[in-house]
Amino acid sequence: MTVTLLKATQGHVRGIARVYVDAWRATYAGLLPPKTLVGMDYDRQSVEWAYQIRHKALHAPILVAYDDKSGVVGVTSFGRSRIEDRPARPPFTQVGITLGSGEVFTLYVHPDHQNRGIGAALIGGAFETLRERGLNQAYVWVLHDNPARYFYERMGGRFIATRRERLWGSDVAQAAYGWPDLAKTLALPGLVRSARLG
Ligand SMILES: CC(C)(COP(=O)(O)OP(=O)(O)OC[C@H]1O[C@@H](n2cnc3c(N)ncnc32)[C@H](O)[C@@H]1OP(=O)(O)O)[C@@H](O)C(=O)NCCC(=O)NCCS
Repeated sequence: MTVTLLKATQGHVRGIARVYVDAWRATYAGLLPPKTLVGMDYDRQSVEWAYQIRHKALHAPILVAYDDKSGVVGVTSFGRSRIEDRPARPPFTQVGITLGSGEVFTLYVHPDHQNRGIGAALIGGAFETLRERGLNQAYVWVLHDNPARYFYERMGGRFIATRRERLWGSDVAQAAYGWPDLAKTLALPGLVRSARLG
């Protein structure tokens, strides 16, 4: 069984939608309102991801992890930091994240395929692509109570800050993790994985 990282195309949107909806429901039960999770569906997410790939892929390619038996099993989107979060101020600057940083917007591995090294491969692919585009720093916002924050710590991310925001009809706490030197992170053995997995 082989999992390969690919640049997402329109042919992947249904698989991405399945990963996204199933991962949200498995991860965010108890963290986000049930109405938000029940209201999600594959068709709407397919339309959303088709739009993302069509309109944003040039600036921030979306990567999928593709399993030769199961199809799309993971997805990540990333790019230059979003304007509203642009972190050229403390506490981001205190860990070395400055203007011109990259940001990981989404990272989801299907619940049936977690703990196979796919998340590490996807974040490695995102970091490599950001580097190719001249961005050597990155950060991510994650729900404070999501165990995925410890995955980011395992990937070498440094805790930066917390914030509260009104999202999906709920007041949620988030935590930010940052990588001030992606070249260094990518060079660390056994951390982020190579793009091709066996
Ligand atoms: C978080 C997520 C992306 C990790 O992907 P994954 O494919 O399951 O993780 P990997 O198998 O690549 O794990 C790589 C390493 O991180 C560790 N790890 C994975 N998840 C972890 C967690 N929640 N806490 C601590 N360590 C974790 C693994 O044990 C592994 O360690 P090792 O190198 O010592 O073997 C995945 O679990 C996921 O999609 N979760 C649900 C969605 C989500 O919360 N996404 C983030 C939204 S911001």
